[in-house]
Amino acid sequence: MHDDVAEWEGRYASHEGGLFSGNVNGPLPVEVAGLRPGRALDVGCGEGADAIWLAQQGWTVTGLDVSTVALGRAAEAARSAGVQVEWVAAGVTQASGTFDLVAAHYPAIKRSPGEPELAALLGLVAVDGTLLVVGHGPPNPEFARSRGFDPADYLLPDTVAPALGADWEILVHEQRPRVRPTPPGSPWTHDDVLRARRRG
Ligand SMILES: C[S@@+](CC[C@H](N)C(=O)[O-])C[C@H]1O[C@@H](n2cnc3c(N)ncnc32)[C@H](O)[C@@H]1O
Repeated sequence: MHDDVAEWEGRYASHEGGLFSGNVNGPLPVEVAGLRPGRALDVGCGEGADAIWLAQQGWTVTGLDVSTVALGRAAEAARSAGVQVEWVAAGVTQASGTFDLVAAHYPAIKRSPGEPELAALLGLVAVDGTLLVVGHGPPNPEFARSRGFDPADYLLPDTVAPALGADWEILVHEQRPRVRPTPPGSPWTHDDVLRARRRG
């Protein structure tokens, strides 16, 4: 098992009651409000709250994550909510198809030389489709390093935005206060939101 996958499996397994809140992430309802439901992919969907919320809004949803523990919980939550979501246990570079919405909230997708993860993420967005990437703000690399990771190693709005060329229109790229605060002690008071449309 790849180190990152093992780490995520371990993190989820050590939080029996769930690692995350089960609530939809604040930026998602705001950013999809004007979109007509179609095919959506939630990249790094974790325990599935965003994917389930999208399905409840009429989207045809695929949830993608490397953690089978998280996906098991996501499938259970979808059953309880009475919605259908396709759950795929894979990393972003193994995903296939194109989607009207590709959303990634607080993705822990590690970059590697040649940026295949970034190319895969962008390639999943259909023509005229929407890419939504949300990270934590404001930048605080020292805090991140104290938690064992370097944000520069991951796909985040600030690493994705510069890669969007002429075939993309950036509609939102801003930091805004979080809808739900992070736990006490976290310096991440804001969300860093990138929303872009692939031009037709
Ligand atoms: C911080 S969690 C966020 C989960 C969820 N989006 C949420 O907001 O609750 C990051 C997720 O990314 C997943 N992940 C890590 N590397 C990945 C990859 N290469 N492809 C897809 N998912 C990945 C992890 O298993 C984890 O569930």
